[in-house]
Order: sequence, then C-alpha cells, then structure tokens
Amino acid sequence: MDIAEIASLVGDDRVHARCYTDPAIFELEMERIFRRTWNFACHESQIPKSGDFVTMTIARQPIIVARAPSGEVAAMFNRCSHRGSIVCREESGNAPNFTCPFHGWVFRCNGELAGIPYRESYSPEFLAQTNLGLAPVPRLGRYRGFVFVSLSAEGVPFESYLAPLKVGIDNLLDRAPEGELIADNGLHRYAYKGNWKHQIENGIDEYHPPFSHASTIKDGKQMARAYGSEGFHYTNKNEKSEDVGRSHFDHAEIHGFPYGHSYLTVADRSRVADLKVPSYRELLIKKHGEKRFAEVEEETFITNCVFYPNFILRVNNNIHLRVVRPIAVDRSEVWVWPLRFKGAPDDMSEGIMRYANVHTSVASFVQTDDLEVFERCQEGLNAQAPEWVWLARGLKQEKPGKHPGELVAQGTWETGMRAQFRYWKEMMTQA
Ligand code: FES
Ligand SMILES: [Fe+2]
Repeated sequence: MDIAEIASLVGDDRVHARCYTDPAIFELEMERIFRRTWNFACHESQIPKSGDFVTMTIARQPIIVARAPSGEVAAMFNRCSHRGSIVCREESGNAPNFTCPFHGWVFRCNGELAGIPYRESYSPEFLAQTNLGLAPVPRLGRYRGFVFVSLSAEGVPFESYLAPLKVGIDNLLDRAPEGELIADNGLHRYAYKGNWKHQIENGIDEYHPPFSHASTIKDGKQMARAYGSEGFHYTNKNEKSEDVGRSHFDHAEIHGFPYGHSYLTVADRSRVADLKVPSYRELLIKKHGEKRFAEVEEETFITNCVFYPNFILRVNNNIHLRVVRPIAVDRSEVWVWPLRFKGAPDDMSEGIMRYANVHTSVASFVQTDDLEVFERCQEGLNAQAPEWVWLARGLKQEKPGKHPGELVAQGTWETGMRAQFRYWKEMMTQA
C-alpha cells in the first residue's frame, strides 16, 4: 500500500471506513504504530517483589515484564532463544527462573541465560555467546510506577511521549496518602468483535453517554438506583436554561495533544467523589498541609487520560488501568485493573472496586453498552457505502492549550479522535 493511498484515508473532518476494516491496514498499524511508539506494559505494583512477573502481548508479540533481584524492571520477549517456544504461559506470578518447557533451557528473571541441559554437546564458542538469554525489549520507560515499552530502538523519546499526560499520573499520586497506587483489586478482561480503535476512541467520547448509556446514567435509572438518588445525578445541578441544545457533557473539556494523546475533564466538579470522604480528606491534609491540599483538590479535574495507542488511565472515582490489545482487524481484548490509593481508608478502596464492578466489568451497566456498540460499528463499517466516518464535531473551534500542539475543546467534540488520527497518519505514512 503506498504512502499516498494511506494518507488519503484521513481528512481533517473524516476517516475512511477501511481504517477499521482492512486487514492490510491492521498489519501496517502493528508495524508502524504499535511497534514504533510506546505501549503501556504494567504498573509496578503488579510486580513488587524480586521474581514477580506479568506476561502480555504488545503488537501481538509475547512479552514478559519481571522484577529482577536488583530491583530493576526487565522487559523481554517471551520466546525461548533455543528454538522459539513461549517460555512462560502464566499471566502473572513469581518465579526465580523461567524454564523452557521444550528442552529445559533456564533463564533468570532478568532474562539472562542461567543454564542449558547436557551442555557438553555444544562447542565452547557457542556457549561463549552473550546473546543466548531472552531478548530484551529495545526500550523501557518508567515513570512513577508506570512501565511502558517500545519495540523499536528508535523513535520518540519516552520523556517527550509522556510529557502531555504526566499531569494525570501526578495528580493520582498526589491523592495517594502513602504516595503509591496499587493494582491489586483483580482484573476485568474481555474480548469484542471489533477494531482496537473503537475502545481507544471511546476513552474520550463524551458525545455517546446519554444515548449508549441511557439506561444507566439518566436521572432515576440504574446508577441512581445503585448509589441512591442523592448519590448520582446525570445532570449538573448548576445547569442553566441556555444549556438546551448542548449536552451535559459539554461542561467537560477534551484536551488533544501530539502523539495521539488526549485527556477528558469532569463535567461537574461536585462529582469528584473521592475527595469528599472525610477520613480520606484528613489523611491528605495531614500529608500535604492545607495549602498544598487545596491545590491538589484544584488539580483534580481529569477523568480519563488516553495514552495512544493502547492505554486509558481512569483518574477519577473508579480509578483503573485499561489496556486495549489488538488481536485482528475485527477482534480486540480489553484488560481493566481497578486501582486503589495506598493508605486510603478500606471502605473507600472497596467503593472504588464496587464502582469498577458496575462500570467496567463484563457484567457492568456501562461497559456492556460500549461493547455492543463497538461490535455494531464493526458490522456497520463493512457496508460498502458510505465510505467515510465523520469526526467533524467542533472542528476548528478549539482553542490552543498550554502544551505545544495542545487543543482545548468542549466535552462532546471529536478533538481527541482527531488527535489520534493525526498521529495515525503521521506514523502510518513513514515507510
Ligand atoms: S525451545 Fe526452549 S529449550 Fe528448546
Ligand atoms: Fe461508554
């Protein structure tokens, strides 16, 4: 597929349906986007002790991330250096070594080769090679417990990639009484018959909730029943009559950035529920002092950070990590780990988990609606006409933000998707 053909698929206000349905485009995305930029791999609280590991696929390649005895985090390909077997099948665990099931080669948890059975039959020259361990992933980036990998030795530096969205990570950590986040509240995991972009776009889509999630969020519906009518309101109590014709979610902001990144703010600050729990508030005031605590409260305005291409960080209320794993052009997996704040009151951590259960689990009120729509989109996009998907809401009405290349938009505008496709085009047109 030539560069001009790929470039023709993305316009300012539209993208071609083939971006979601063409298997050749999907293969190119794996090579030119997922293998060249940064992908979220894991949170360090998932591997706190020496020998702890997690496995995953990134750009469909098998990866292990493990804690070495030195305390360092190691990321390597989950592929035996002998004849290619997957070395570790577990999703997570603790092991001093990885032993290949085929001929028993053994690797240390930092990937180094530890032993080869019946070694006499190998020449001294062969055994003297230094590259017989598990191959390390070319680049590893860590920021305050968040581990990212790049499958390419070259490309955008980690610091530049992360810069626009550090604000979300920093704010979460400021709200942790003991300065750490912990992802030990289990995992919600599911697959859908649709392209990976449906989920990553959904992380900043505030146009859809009143329709896709009507049975959940409208006043008096499921969320109100789950939390009590005082606990949840769809509409902002301060909404004015001139808001007719705008969505409640237009009170939120979308911020679009370079590298396909974006974040979404809360539509109604009175709904930033965590900071209202009195015992938790007290802990944070003790940690920060009154003045800094007031600033932290002011800085608590982000709902979701979308780290393109594979990671959504939920920063408010039901805080969680959400990773999308592309499997095929029309099949994707979503993995969600609820988070908790280290040192927060237990009932608050339980509340976060309960919220995740009703929002992000397969049996939830909310994510199930989204999965249904992702599958309908995939099916609909196979129609031969019309050719285009419109991403025109709020186009050219955005204001510049503080960060280079940042655009600030109303909550329902498709500014985040346009940021994603600008980077998509940039990456996909580099041979
Ligand atoms: S393939 Fe792993 S030891 Fe032979
Ligand atoms: Fe949704």
